[in-house]
Amino acid sequence: EKGGYDWFMRKEIYEQPRAVADTLLGRYDESSRLVLDEMRITENELRSIDKIVVIACGTAFYAGMVAKYAIEHWTRIPCEVELASEFRYRDPIVGPTTLVVAISQSGETADTLMAIRHAQEQKARVLAVCNTNGSTIPREADAVIYTHAGPEIGVASTKGFLTQLVACYLLGLYLAQVRGTKFGDEIAATMAELQAMPAAITEVLEAIGPVLDLAGEFADAPSVLFLGRHVGYPVALEGALKLKELAYIHAEGFAAGELKHGPIALLEDALPVFAVVPPKGRDQLHAKVLSNLQEVRARGARTIVLAEHDDTDVVPYADVLIRLPKVSTLLQPLVATVPLQVFACELATRKGHDVDQPRNLAKSVTVE
Ligand code: M6R
Repeated sequence: EKGGYDWFMRKEIYEQPRAVADTLLGRYDESSRLVLDEMRITENELRSIDKIVVIACGTAFYAGMVAKYAIEHWTRIPCEVELASEFRYRDPIVGPTTLVVAISQSGETADTLMAIRHAQEQKARVLAVCNTNGSTIPREADAVIYTHAGPEIGVASTKGFLTQLVACYLLGLYLAQVRGTKFGDEIAATMAELQAMPAAITEVLEAIGPVLDLAGEFADAPSVLFLGRHVGYPVALEGALKLKELAYIHAEGFAAGELKHGPIALLEDALPVFAVVPPKGRDQLHAKVLSNLQEVRARGARTIVLAEHDDTDVVPYADVLIRLPKVSTLLQPLVATVPLQVFACELATRKGHDVDQPRNLAKSVTVE
């Protein structure tokens, strides 16, 4: 049932183009309006929402961080992201006009479930983003967007994460449609970009060779850092989490702008530092990440740079270059995460670790 792969995780990484395509399937009606099947919250109710709170754990939390960037940008509804395990213990401000979005691959994570129950006690509406039909979280939620990743067996979330991103983008676009913050053709243009993502992810997987070589090169690194900005920041956090849970290596993800506020002191000779470079756009993020890379290299660390394939500006700052397809900034996590998943999987298997069942971890964490 591993379909010719040695590990479920590797199989699931390679299933991602299909999983993303399936999650996008059937989201349009005949009049080109976005439809979300199990959105049992009415359009009127969605128009009265004045705040969104995303709650999730682990990798799903990082999907939530990306969701915040997309949802606020497209809908202008204030959106917070909170670790589910923290949520109910701090007397959060939620009520009938709050939409709580609970992201959980398994649908059984106790921290997330308890947070949902707390939100419902405060009369908030709860939407679940979930991969498991009939699990507890979508059963208790008012509405659900199912991700169609298929069963995820590996403890490390891979296709679960990418499909959670897709579901969050769909939610953002749907809210924009309902509330009229984006025109139909703008929504259609982003949907077309999303439809092109399976091919873009396939492109990343087909050019993965250099990432496999990297795993050999850094197999003995005691620590690895990951930098990103904007939606590249949660990608950095996800890259670090994958490495921790699979390879048992200390790893940290940082918002690149924070480097100078402390983490720069960690930099030393030969330390591997991954950086997700945002597409060149109207803002200055691209240039700012390049100047971060310059600071990193000046201290002897080794830079592994993920950047668009025609981005020549990065060349002087990269010890190793990993090329990404050209996609818009908000969607970049769908391609930028993939090499980091492969790196962690490859490094861990080279060390002889069981990547499907890493030590001390369970696939769904059903205790608080
Ligand atoms: O099933 P869930 O999405 O609720 O699980 C949340 C986390 O436990 C999960 O993402 C965990 O962090 C993974 N092991 C990450 O690879």
